[in-house]
Amino acid sequence: MENLKDKVAYITGGTKGIGLGVAKTLLDNGMKVVISGRSDASIQEGLKSLNDENAMGVVSDVSKIEDEMNAVNQIAAKWGQLDVVLANAGVGNFAPIDEMTEVQWHQMIDTNLNGVFHTLKASIEELKKSKGYYMTLASLAGTNFFPSGAGYNASKFGVVGFTQAAMLDLRKYDVKVTTIMPGSVATHFNNHVPDDSDAWKIQPEDIGQLVLDLLKMHSRTLPSKIEVRPTRPDKK
Ligand SMILES: NC(=O)c1ccc[n+]([C@@H]2O[C@H](COP(=O)([O-])OP(=O)(O)OC[C@H]3O[C@@H](n4cnc5c(N)ncnc54)[C@H](OP(=O)(O)O)[C@@H]3O)[C@@H](O)[C@H]2O)c1
Repeated sequence: MENLKDKVAYITGGTKGIGLGVAKTLLDNGMKVVISGRSDASIQEGLKSLNDENAMGVVSDVSKIEDEMNAVNQIAAKWGQLDVVLANAGVGNFAPIDEMTEVQWHQMIDTNLNGVFHTLKASIEELKKSKGYYMTLASLAGTNFFPSGAGYNASKFGVVGFTQAAMLDLRKYDVKVTTIMPGSVATHFNNHVPDDSDAWKIQPEDIGQLVLDLLKMHSRTLPSKIEVRPTRPDKK
């Protein structure tokens, strides 16, 4: 996209963590940004921290397609266009597979995997109109499996496969599609509270910079799958 000014981005799960970091970066670069989350309280907190008149919030649970349809309708009604979608909302429940509950399993699949489909389904006609960009926030867990990660790995391997196939389907409409696969990022993921000991991790604004770089890339070129990791792993 040559000019980002007044382009409209929708970031699912933008109330904190990576989504909020990307929202700040895009707002700082002249875009209009919509963040979503599951509750009005968390949306209000996110909007307060953004403190920008070009930010808007919608309550939407990505595991429900009707919520995502409604979110995109609200965005189109307010700003008349949708140029960038970052399907970022996600949860992690980690346990050995013999101990993992059905509730934990379904929450991950419904949010991390079904959610990215719901977000794409709801936004694709707007993205075709704008020749826009759809990104998913997968993980290195979408290519590396580990103990206690069966459910999370299943959801993120699914997101990577889904996004790559969608990229092949949608490029004929000039809709770009990319999956971003980070290693450790300093966020609230899995009830973590970020603090100084997270300095070695990728920071949310670094993912913001990455998204910005992707948006500014020449239209003829598409980095479709991106692994990104801390330069130096934790030395503890
Ligand atoms: N942190 C890492 O090291 C890391 C590494 C690789 C990939 N990721 C991925 O990055 C993405 C963002 O996670 P994060 O690290 O930023 O975690 P986070 O700080 O816990 O933020 C998660 C966000 O997702 C939202 N969310 C969760 N379930 C949702 C649902 N059903 N519908 C709508 N929003 C929902 C939360 O909003 P509310 O609570 O307000 O609903 C929150 O805004 C996830 O997909 C995660 O798997 C994280």
